[in-house]
Amino acid sequence: MVESTRIVLASRPAGAPTPENFRIETAEIPAPAEGEVLLRTLYLSLDPYMRGRMSSAKSYAEPVEVGAVMVGATVAEVLESRAPSVSKGDVVLAYSGWQTHDVAPAHGLRVLDPAKAPVSTALGVLGMPGFTAYAGLSRIGKPQPGETLVVAAATGAVGSTVGQIAKIKGARTVGIAGGPRKVAYLNEIGFDVAIDHRAPDFAEQLAAAVPDGIDIYFENVGGSVAEAVYPLLNNYARVPVCGLIANYNATGVPAGPDRLPAFYGRILTKSLTVRGFIQSEFVRELYPDFLREMGEWVAGGRVHYLEDVVHGLAAAPEAFIGMLEGRNFGKLVVRVAD
Ligand SMILES: NC(=O)c1ccc[n+]([C@@H]2O[C@H](COP(=O)([O-])OP(=O)(O)OC[C@H]3O[C@@H](n4cnc5c(N)ncnc54)[C@H](OP(=O)(O)O)[C@@H]3O)[C@@H](O)[C@H]2O)c1
Repeated sequence: MVESTRIVLASRPAGAPTPENFRIETAEIPAPAEGEVLLRTLYLSLDPYMRGRMSSAKSYAEPVEVGAVMVGATVAEVLESRAPSVSKGDVVLAYSGWQTHDVAPAHGLRVLDPAKAPVSTALGVLGMPGFTAYAGLSRIGKPQPGETLVVAAATGAVGSTVGQIAKIKGARTVGIAGGPRKVAYLNEIGFDVAIDHRAPDFAEQLAAAVPDGIDIYFENVGGSVAEAVYPLLNNYARVPVCGLIANYNATGVPAGPDRLPAFYGRILTKSLTVRGFIQSEFVRELYPDFLREMGEWVAGGRVHYLEDVVHGLAAAPEAFIGMLEGRNFGKLVVRVAD
């Protein structure tokens, strides 16, 4: 028997999650059966979608039950294997959730090659968030040379990759982020313009930054950023709707007048394509291309990535709560074990 330390959902949040919504526990886990492996978590990914899993509202995935381990992608070391496809000592991409150890079927695991890239990147630029950027752009955004792309949460795992892929495709890129440190980083990694959405004159700065209008708005946030973007969209603009993090802690509809008629009016009169997506929709079709192409871009220094690493499983709740407020700077991962 191995003891696993785990963080479970103690209660469902009303509005922003608090530390009391999580509880740390230990549990004994059984030895692996035939076809299974025993895993020790090295890194845990913290992602905005986990806020949705804490809620019982109907969504594209089942909620985490109260008392159950919080879900999440992990990079783990194989301590014991009873499957031919995975060996003891391998480092794998798994989905063990917020816990130090797990027993899992071997067939869902991807063996990582630490010689190719740091293994933590399998949770970020070379994993689900990077793939989200790649798929949303290649299937919906379709940036063309000379077009203008705008993306918010632009220093984050998805947004920074969106901006850099669009730049490779020849687009002019405008990144939106919270605070001067993040804005400086966007300039460093090659965004043409970087804007702080917390600035009082944010909407004016955005309008000045896009003299030819906006052809692609990669929607990560919604809220006041989206409201400033929509009047600037060009005819035939594309809006891959990837995330709406400004709404994730909302407990009701936003104050003010009903904006839906104006929103539909713009879609109609400007012939906009507004298309929501969940990255998993494109995995079968695009994942091998993504791994090859993004692997080359990262190895060749054409796509940069930033990781925000917090240490120890116990730090996960606070770090997760902070991410929903913009306190992370780069892809948020927890270093669970060395
Ligand atoms: N559709 C899919 O399949 C899919 C897959 C992965 C991710 N996503 C979505 O993609 C988005 C980015 O995810 P990520 O993993 O890359 O996270 P991230 O950008 O690393 O972290 C979230 C960031 O969102 C920004 N933010 C938070 N509240 C905001 C607000 N009210 N207004 C504007 N910005 C706000 C903050 O950045 P600033 O400090 O810069 O504002 C924060 O750092 C999320 O909406 C997520 O749900 C969707």
